[in-house]
Amino acid sequence: MRCVQVTGARLRLREVTRDDVDALHAIYGDPAATEHLPFDPRTPEEVAEIVEEAIEAAMAEPRRLYLLAVTDVHDGRVIGVARLQIEADHPHSAEIGLALRPETWGRGLGTDLVRMLLSFGFRDLRLHRIWGARSPANVPAQLAMLVAGMVEEGRVRHHYRTPRGWRDSIVHSALEDEWDGDRRR
Ligand SMILES: CC(C)(COP(=O)(O)OP(=O)(O)OC[C@H]1O[C@@H](n2cnc3c(N)ncnc32)[C@H](O)[C@@H]1OP(=O)(O)O)[C@@H](O)C(=O)NCCC(=O)NCCS
Repeated sequence: MRCVQVTGARLRLREVTRDDVDALHAIYGDPAATEHLPFDPRTPEEVAEIVEEAIEAAMAEPRRLYLLAVTDVHDGRVIGVARLQIEADHPHSAEIGLALRPETWGRGLGTDLVRMLLSFGFRDLRLHRIWGARSPANVPAQLAMLVAGMVEEGRVRHHYRTPRGWRDSIVHSALEDEWDGDRRR
């Protein structure tokens, strides 16, 4: 298994471990952090299951799922979670997802995190296309992806069935040949 570690100026991405379940539950179990996500806040047991699946998926060959803890580079505290999932039928393409603890929002960390995921996907995994789907109402996610260089592609109607009903998604993407290492050209 290849052990991922990506270090930026403020954030570090690393593999999740079983010790991260409580910290990840503080995000996946938080009503504010999951408001725009297509599921209800997770229970600790559900988060533990997600971590087990991620640890197993990390050993798969070829590896398709990267579930990464997002830590504060200075003190190692887990402040978020990031996901990069390579598509089974399109191994040049991956979907990203991200969530940070609400008390860290609004300081540019989400934008940094999208940039780090693009850099990891294009530079390290040699992907061609990276995309993310957000709720139409999720303005912070929209801005974080746009500022990081992911263009809006359009609307996927009834993309997810959520506990609150069908939800459309706005899809953003970045392509390897228009990505210059930090921003869209
Ligand atoms: C999406 C998310 C990661 C963004 O994180 P963040 O650290 O707040 O992002 P940034 O600070 O980089 O902000 C991105 C932009 O949104 C703006 N923004 C942040 N919070 C905002 C809010 N509540 N309302 C309006 N704009 C907001 C910022 O000003 C910034 O815009 P700018 O670059 O023009 O200044 C964070 O909101 C989050 O974890 N949300 C819950 C999970 C989620 O929705 N994930 C996305 C799934 S697609």
